[in-house]
Amino acid sequence: MKLTINNLTKTYKNGVKAIDDLSLEIGTGMFGLLGPNGAGKSSLMRTIATLQSPDSGSIMFNDIDVLKDQMSLRKILGYLPQSFGVYPKMSAEDLLDYFASLKGVSSKTDREKLVKEVLEITNLYDVRKKHVAGYSGGMKQRFGIAQLLLNNPKLIVVDEPTAGLDPAERNRFLNVLREVGTNCTVIFSTHIVDDVKELCNEMAILNGGRILKHITPIEATKGIEGVIWTKIIERDDLETMEANYNVLSSNYNQDNTLNIRVYSNHLAFRESKIPSPKLSY
Ligand SMILES: Nc1ncnc2c1ncn2[C@@H]1O[C@H](COP(=O)(O)OP(=O)(O)OP(=O)(O)O)[C@@H](O)[C@H]1O
Ligand SMILES: [Mg+2]
Repeated sequence: MKLTINNLTKTYKNGVKAIDDLSLEIGTGMFGLLGPNGAGKSSLMRTIATLQSPDSGSIMFNDIDVLKDQMSLRKILGYLPQSFGVYPKMSAEDLLDYFASLKGVSSKTDREKLVKEVLEITNLYDVRKKHVAGYSGGMKQRFGIAQLLLNNPKLIVVDEPTAGLDPAERNRFLNVLREVGTNCTVIFSTHIVDDVKELCNEMAILNGGRILKHITPIEATKGIEGVIWTKIIERDDLETMEANYNVLSSNYNQDNTLNIRVYSNHLAFRESKIPSPKLSY
């Protein structure tokens, strides 16, 4: 399987060039698209998912010309947008059954079999009777995967699915994606380096609508060795840390401490007056 993007460009009406002469080749397996806010991740993904047209360039998925033959692509596409909107007060099972009938599965027995299958893959079978509206963030994201699996997609595009998930939910989600991604092409975007490190055989770094690097995660993390550090701090120390260091992210732990990620020259950070500099990558 191969997705080939050539010289793709998109400028929005307000003059922002969100995709800038971008070319990329993606094969079978998990592909990570890493980039900061505004890099153009969602723009690129919506274009691949045929929801918006570029100004120029081409996209081929195997022998489908994506921009010309949108219907053929949609049949084999599974897309999970960055925000999925509001869920009705329906159980996961009923909602999936409804989606399956919209997708043209007319036999009730076939739908039941299919719905059970996708609930099991996404580990939602035990909570299938609960309303999706009441699901946790991680469960909702797994439900998003369940719905896109209904038409047995060959190309799966998921836009920042791990944003806002706590570590346990994030792991559960990534495991589901890993299982799904064994025999199709999965492109997922994130701004968390660890997501791609743990999951992908290939990745690209996107910024300003351009591909900065197309490499393996191992090569990518080598580049940041020695400059990105994580540290556990007390909640009250965050302000001091932010004032003194380039804090890239902070996450709450259950015991009310914080996990922070810092961009810093090793020695400068070690010699700081911060208590117990227990540092690791
Ligand atoms: N519909 C739109 N109209 C005008 N500008 C847009 C539109 N959508 C995105 N942009 C702009 O295009 C650029 C790329 O946005 P995009 O949403 O693709 O980035 P992103 O990498 O997905 O960011 P994030 O991590 O915040 O989701 C940004 O400067 C954004 O403000
Ligand atoms: Mg986005």
